[in-house]
Amino acid sequence: MSDKKKGLKRLVEFMYDRLPMHKFNFEHIVLEKEVPVHRMSWAYYLGGLTLFFFMVQVVTGIFLLFYYQPTVSDAHASIEYITKYVNNGFFIRNLHTWSSSCMILCLVVHAITTFAMKAFAPPREMIWVGGAAMLILTFAFGFTGYLLPWHQIAVNATKVMLQSIEESGHYLPGFLSGVPHYMRELIQGGSVVGQATLSRFFALHVVILPLIVFGILAMHLLSVQLHGMSQGVDTLPKKTEKFFPFFILKDLIVWGVAFLGIFILAVCVPFESFYAFPLFQAYNALGATPEGIKPEWYFYFTYYPLELLPFWLVMIGMIVTGTVLLLTPWIFKNTSRRMLTIIAWAITAYLVITTLFGNVILELVKGVKS
Ligand code: HEM
Repeated sequence: MSDKKKGLKRLVEFMYDRLPMHKFNFEHIVLEKEVPVHRMSWAYYLGGLTLFFFMVQVVTGIFLLFYYQPTVSDAHASIEYITKYVNNGFFIRNLHTWSSSCMILCLVVHAITTFAMKAFAPPREMIWVGGAAMLILTFAFGFTGYLLPWHQIAVNATKVMLQSIEESGHYLPGFLSGVPHYMRELIQGGSVVGQATLSRFFALHVVILPLIVFGILAMHLLSVQLHGMSQGVDTLPKKTEKFFPFFILKDLIVWGVAFLGIFILAVCVPFESFYAFPLFQAYNALGATPEGIKPEWYFYFTYYPLELLPFWLVMIGMIVTGTVLLLTPWIFKNTSRRMLTIIAWAITAYLVITTLFGNVILELVKGVKS
């Protein structure tokens, strides 16, 4: 057999093991599926919870689309109109914002727990890679959605982010150094952040990203159904429970509690009350850039390092992290669950410290320098 044929055969075998479609039947998926019961069982709810918040995003996003106008002249006014005059508009918009934060929180914890449980081990590599792609795409959802209200902070924060993308080119070798500049032009659409940028962010946020995520998500969920849940711990679990009807019922209860939680939050706590800036000021190109503009909280893990450390160091860190994330099933193939748990705790500690205490650390460092 020629090398070409051998390579093709290996690829077909790889795909057959990763996507065993012969198991796509009622018996395997509904009657036989079981979930292991052990000390980490709670982690099996996190993917479903992420899915729930994603569905809330889709439904509330569609409602917002009925009134939102994606033009620089009307975007801000349409958001103000939704918030002040549309029936339940404030509630829907607040639900969309709270749910986006909850989704990102669940998504990150889901990624960390599946990592610690080594759920990426063969034959689940593609579940992990798809998940990692969705993690990156979810941050892209956050980035593109932030600009849509077209207020002073959003436009200025987007300018800063696009500038950072451009600057990252200085730290890349050879022809790669030109890529970030091209990316900036592609995202920005014109020489400044303006109508073309808003149109592109809108298209990405409501059409392109959802379509890509729907495709990857379908594969993610299908693969999980075909392979069943991973064992999750080192010793064979002594007990398992049927997915249908027991686990799915518990899943639904968790979704109900989550809905109650975001419902109460959306009614009582305007998401914007956490910002120190007057968010409702429409963007004015002649207006001053507000002091201390910050991205959403879920970008703090890169924002504070960018404020504290040399730009090139953070860029290298991000490129390495992205690569390791996508190649995790192969890089950590032989790593023990114990070691994976230690790494998972270290990542959690880093994320918690930069997100909750990044500001305090920044002030301390500034104090020492001055
Ligand atoms: C929109 C984003 C995502 C959704 C809606 C989602 C949904 C789900 C669901 C419903 C499950 C089955 C239940 C569970 O194990 O919790 C699952 C499993 C899994 N997910 Fe995700 N996921 C997402 C993103 C991610 C990310 C970012 C990763 C990692 C980088 C990931 C890795 C995995 C793995 C490895 C499994 C298999 C777990 C096992 O077999 O024990 N997922 N996902």
